[in-house]
Amino acid sequence: MIDPIYSPNPDRYDGLMQFRRSGRSGILMSALSLGFWHNFGSISNFANCKAMMHYAFDHGITCYDLANNYGPTYGTAEETFGRMMDLSFRPYRDEMFITTKAGYDMWPGPYGNWGSRKYLVSSLDQSLKRMHLDYVDLFYSHRYDPNTPLEETLQALVDIVRQGKALYVGISRWPLEAAEFAYRYLRERDVPCLCYQGKYNILYQDDDTGGILASATDAGVGYVAFSPLQQGLLTDRYLNGIPQGSRMSRREALTPDDLTPTLLKQIRDLAELAAQRGESLADMALAWCLRRPEVTSVIVGASSVAQLEDDLRVLDSQSFSAEQLDIIEDIIHQK
Ligand SMILES: NC(=O)c1ccc[n+]([C@@H]2O[C@H](COP(=O)([O-])OP(=O)(O)OC[C@H]3O[C@@H](n4cnc5c(N)ncnc54)[C@H](OP(=O)(O)O)[C@@H]3O)[C@@H](O)[C@H]2O)c1
Repeated sequence: MIDPIYSPNPDRYDGLMQFRRSGRSGILMSALSLGFWHNFGSISNFANCKAMMHYAFDHGITCYDLANNYGPTYGTAEETFGRMMDLSFRPYRDEMFITTKAGYDMWPGPYGNWGSRKYLVSSLDQSLKRMHLDYVDLFYSHRYDPNTPLEETLQALVDIVRQGKALYVGISRWPLEAAEFAYRYLRERDVPCLCYQGKYNILYQDDDTGGILASATDAGVGYVAFSPLQQGLLTDRYLNGIPQGSRMSRREALTPDDLTPTLLKQIRDLAELAAQRGESLADMALAWCLRRPEVTSVIVGASSVAQLEDDLRVLDSQSFSAEQLDIIEDIIHQK
């Protein structure tokens, strides 16, 4: 049977989503972004990928976060995205803010990894082909490379923008001092860093305690949080065991050994607090990230439309009382 042509929800911008400005820029990002790290590669069911992308767009999610090596296998999440552009989204390209990255291992040999100009430029060319795009909205250096001069990586980002292959650039997982150098270098060349992408969630607060969040804000750079659900640990997914088909059961970046008795107790205590607030643990975890106005967007991963539906309910979450924030801190510091 031939699928009907995708016709998006006409009410997608009528209060379904919240938009937040990225630092001191002109860009508004949807408070939730959809991430393609898992569940969109060649091993995933395409009909499910399609349903999730349609659902996201229909609910006002404008930001889509990819990287060259997302899959599995490497490159195939971008291919899925390209297929979806052809199938559904070409008429809506200008409503979408599409991101990709390079920095981790992608192809064999010395030019398929880290932060050289050679790698970043050729990787982005490959990504554009896989995604069937002329340009991306945002290109990130996916990680700091201690062996490449920062100027080389950053100048490659500047040139990528000047060549029209990306409208904005960002950095991800760079240490504080190098990030501050990057903000200065890019601003001096009139290609300001749009955002810093880092891991931030109830169980992992290093970017806050280590000053990354504050320094990005001071520099007028947005902060985009990845793994806000700690890969699914901050949901009801593992409260009563390890479900078949979950990321942990597939041992993809999360293994049963990660679920220590201490962590399980913390998650159960957090779930109890979420229930008292009248919401799911996922929604409380996302609301906790978004309570900070410096956080421009949280990138959620999902394996089903039902998960996305649950995650989007964060937009109806109540704010946190000081007492609830203290309870959360007590829970995560309990041994
Ligand atoms: N810059 C970087 O280095 C970097 C690193 C990591 C991630 N990222 C980006 O951030 C995105 C998100 O990362 P992540 O996938 O680790 O995010 P996450 O949102 O912390 O975890 C996503 C997983 O949580 C589970 N989940 C989501 N909503 C749920 C719900 N309502 N109820 C129950 N389970 C739920 C699903 O697990 P199951 O699959 O088991 O169902 C889903 O795959 C990535 O896709 C990528 O775009 C960037």
